[in-house]
Amino acid sequence: MLKGMAIPRKVILIGFMGSGKSTVAAVLGRKLGLTVYEMDDLIVELSGLDSIPAIFAAKGEAYFRELEARVAHSLRERENVVISTGGGVISRPANMQNLTSAGGVVVYLRTSFEILAERIGDISGRPLFADGAKARALYLEREPVYQSYATITVDTDSLGVDEVCARVLSRLES
Ligand code: S3P
Repeated sequence: MLKGMAIPRKVILIGFMGSGKSTVAAVLGRKLGLTVYEMDDLIVELSGLDSIPAIFAAKGEAYFRELEARVAHSLRERENVVISTGGGVISRPANMQNLTSAGGVVVYLRTSFEILAERIGDISGRPLFADGAKARALYLEREPVYQSYATITVDTDSLGVDEVCARVLSRLES
């Protein structure tokens, strides 16, 4: 755990699919001594199904968004946590209100669409990346929304995970 810095009680990672939220959350959690919550995992658990694609296939996106909203609500009082969100969490303002109602620093991992598409490669785990043109349109629609919620934005295009974490940590410190 890092010494000598005020540890935020709640760090919320947002960004498009493939921006590295889960990996960065795991490293930040370890370095800051905070518990990591992976919203997608909590949603799958709540659904009783075995994966995100299974939820989309069996019940559709609207049902997935309902579960996502319930999970965001269930996390509203949590402190001493890093929360890795799904890329669509910002589609309902109430989700962000719930996630930040007890305070918290919102970290936006900003990545260009081209790099995201390269990083994602196998799209089978991400139903909303199945159609490249639609994914790009969704990216363009969401980008300003992520930005509007961000306390801290880190551009990840040319950075590895360790460098992204180092930047987040130095921004959290300042
Ligand atoms: C989604 C992103 C996914 C997952 C679901 C919907 C989205 O999470 O929640 O497939 O709407 O962008 P990741 O951002 O972790 O891939």
